[in-house]
Amino acid sequence: MEEGCKKRYSPIGVFDSGYGGLTILRDIAREMPGYDYIYLGDNARAPYGTRSYEVVYRYTREAVVKLFEMGCRLVILACNTASAKALRTIQQQDLPVLDASRRVLGVIRPSVEAVADYTRNGHIGVLATRGTVASESYLLEVAKIHSGKDFRVTQLACPMWVPLVENNELDSPGTEYFVRKYLEELFGMDPGIDTVLLACTHYPLLREVIDRHVPKGVKVVQQGEIVARSLKDYLWRHPEMEERLSRGGSIRYYTTEREGMFDRMAAMFMRSGVESRHVELK
Ligand code: DGL
Repeated sequence: MEEGCKKRYSPIGVFDSGYGGLTILRDIAREMPGYDYIYLGDNARAPYGTRSYEVVYRYTREAVVKLFEMGCRLVILACNTASAKALRTIQQQDLPVLDASRRVLGVIRPSVEAVADYTRNGHIGVLATRGTVASESYLLEVAKIHSGKDFRVTQLACPMWVPLVENNELDSPGTEYFVRKYLEELFGMDPGIDTVLLACTHYPLLREVIDRHVPKGVKVVQQGEIVARSLKDYLWRHPEMEERLSRGGSIRYYTTEREGMFDRMAAMFMRSGVESRHVELK
């Protein structure tokens, strides 16, 4: 780039089915405030967690294409369900055709790499959507990345949690009930669990309630900081990508739902004013 010449707008794209990815964006933007970011929430079609492979892949692909059109060279799927069901196909089939110089990264691998730093006895609980649990992505990644270690992973789907978050029921008695219910079920399956991974980006929004119902001494791990650290490391290892990203320190928000609704919820999670724009995916 020439001296005095402004770098072309080239943001990092952060995608989720709805509000959950904001928990990742918040930590990424805190860790690396200099870059430009675009957040895209497919709120109109959330939740993804109960949808088939085909549908999650199609929706995710549409979002990635849109973020590419908006100028993103790097997109983070800040959604476990999309990472589990669409990431590999997008990386292997779509990227070479769309633009081989762009990158799409997910949240599962960095989370699995990091979880070993938290557990002492190797008993790990994974709470996620039905789709993520059924994909067995966490079981497969743990077996691959920590093959020599004696890890026992217990997965449980929490299908009520995302709708509670998407419908702003965070403080309701129903939320308290469903958080307790799933946690009791998880610890009933393996009372030895010492680390619980919140493997859905919506779940940190229920963190206060979760903490009230987790047995003492158990670590609850959320993905924001893990993904932020891993992205920083990725950019350090890939200067050819890092150099192309613009550094205006901006965050733009897009939602497939009505803007007003998104802005109110998103402002709560980001702890700052949010003004989104509506976008159609197809
Ligand atoms: N937040 C997403 C995840 O991490 C998905 C939630 C949903 O749409 O079901 O899995």
